[in-house]
Amino acid sequence: MSSVEACKETKYVWAVIAVGAALSVGLSVLMPKDVTAASKGEQIFKNNCEGCHAGGKNSMKPRHPIIGSKKLASKEKFKNYIAKPERPMPPFKEIANKDADVTALYEYCKGLK
Ligand code: HEC
Repeated sequence: MSSVEACKETKYVWAVIAVGAALSVGLSVLMPKDVTAASKGEQIFKNNCEGCHAGGKNSMKPRHPIIGSKKLASKEKFKNYIAKPERPMPPFKEIANKDADVTALYEYCKGLK
């Protein structure tokens, strides 16, 4: 390989790297916020709710599933419910007090089918 060719090659490699970097930066900017909110909601659900509500159902009281619940009518209603639910569901004040968590969890629960 002549030195000119080697130089061209190096430039090419750098161009590919630059395009790749630009793309990944562009993608992370373009990535819809929902994606992160959704996975956050899923995480909160897995950590706190899934024990009793796997698949959006209710293993303790099958007639009270999350899917189709009236408590999902609004975020406010949902928040109030998880802060002060009907027994034997335990309250989740820590989640209820963090708006971003409520939003993420609410969106996740509404998406359950
Ligand atoms: C220890 C079990 C348990 C856990 C954990 C739990 N729940 Fe519940 N959940 C219940 C029970 C039992 C009910 C039904 C209460 C009743 O009698 O109305 C219920 C009811 C609900 C309802 C209302 C359903 C209806 O009837 O309209 C929603 C919404 C709900 N839970 C959401 C959640 C969310 C969100 C979490 C996690 C932050 C969670 N639950 C964690 C047991 C649980």
